[in-house]
Amino acid sequence: MIIPIKIESSDSKEYNIHIENLQNIEFDTKVAIVTNTTVSKLHLDRALKSIKAPHIEVIEVPDGEEYKNIETVLTILDRLFKAKFDRKSTLVALGGGVIGDMTGFTASMYQRGVEFVQMPTTLLSQVDASVGGKTGVNNSYGKNLIGSFYQPKAVYIDPDFLKTLPAREFAAGVAEVVKMAVMFDIDFYNFLKEVDFSNRDDIVKVIAKSVKLKADVVNQDEKESGIRAVLNYGHTFGHVVENLTNYREFLHGEAVSIGIVMANELAVKLNLLTKEDAEDIKILLKKANLPITFKIENIEDFYEHFFLDKKSANGSIAFILPNGEIGSNIIKRDIPKDLVIDALNCFKA
Ligand SMILES: NC(=O)c1ccc[n+]([C@@H]2O[C@H](COP(=O)([O-])OP(=O)(O)OC[C@H]3O[C@@H](n4cnc5c(N)ncnc54)[C@H](O)[C@@H]3O)[C@@H](O)[C@H]2O)c1
Ligand SMILES: [Zn+2]
Repeated sequence: MIIPIKIESSDSKEYNIHIENLQNIEFDTKVAIVTNTTVSKLHLDRALKSIKAPHIEVIEVPDGEEYKNIETVLTILDRLFKAKFDRKSTLVALGGGVIGDMTGFTASMYQRGVEFVQMPTTLLSQVDASVGGKTGVNNSYGKNLIGSFYQPKAVYIDPDFLKTLPAREFAAGVAEVVKMAVMFDIDFYNFLKEVDFSNRDDIVKVIAKSVKLKADVVNQDEKESGIRAVLNYGHTFGHVVENLTNYREFLHGEAVSIGIVMANELAVKLNLLTKEDAEDIKILLKKANLPITFKIENIEDFYEHFFLDKKSANGSIAFILPNGEIGSNIIKRDIPKDLVIDALNCFKA
């Protein structure tokens, strides 16, 4: 299955997202496969079998979000220079969102930009991170604060990569899928209630639908000046949960799951979601083995953390909420503090 991306901006970009088992992919340029030590053991051979290129360099970096930084990018750049890669070269990101974000960012800089291709291997990166062209790394001031918008030349999503993915990582990807369903598509939401994740066809349907929904948003708003912000549903709260637990206790998707439950509590208070629908979403998340509770020790401190997020840096917090029903969305700014505190109090330790 091929899903086309067509970004309507001044320098319009078009490319395809392929969802199928890896086929032969031919390059007429030198190729560097950027991957990590975990993924390379599991899937490098398969990637190498499908890639045909005049020269292939494999660049392995350590595994972990803590290595998603400028130092690792510098080592990748160094390897490219050593291997005499020129401006007509292609980087292939083989791994999860960490590898995808870092490789895309490196590609956007190397000799002012070389082509890159995404080969996402986690559910989260297949349904979310590999689509849309956000690239970047973390630094001591926060996550993804250094980066660029840089679209790949193509995305190759092979659902079979997921066979080796730990269950917890799989569930984390489901949180992003639920996010998209609740924001955009009630039919998809109802499908998720019945889905069988042990069935390959169901997984393919979930990936394809999520990619389509995200692609549709990105096509309209590449640089997040409007609707793309809706993809942050569950993230405004989730980022605070990640931050308060020092990024150790929860995977990103798990924090998003908790964030969705918190956002829904606020939506219920604003009459934007019925209690029944909020409960229904909770049940769906729980069924996917995602956490749905979090004990807030200090409500005021939790609230203050909203303002550390780069997306609320100008002082107003944008809350992304369902808009009256599952499948529709609204961006609410200037919700009175006491209402938010009211919602947060439902999670008081
Ligand atoms: N660019 C975007 O739009 C966007 C969107 C969402 C998230 N992100 C970024 O993505 C990152 C999270 O991505 P992630 O959840 O994929 O994390 P990840 O890349 O750290 O991968 C999770 C773990 O799974 C391992 N792994 C990957 N594929 C595997 C496989 N097939 N089998 C077994 N193990 C495998 C990895 O080595 C890692 O240990 C974050 O850095 C986040 O900021 C970016
Ligand atoms: Zn996310």
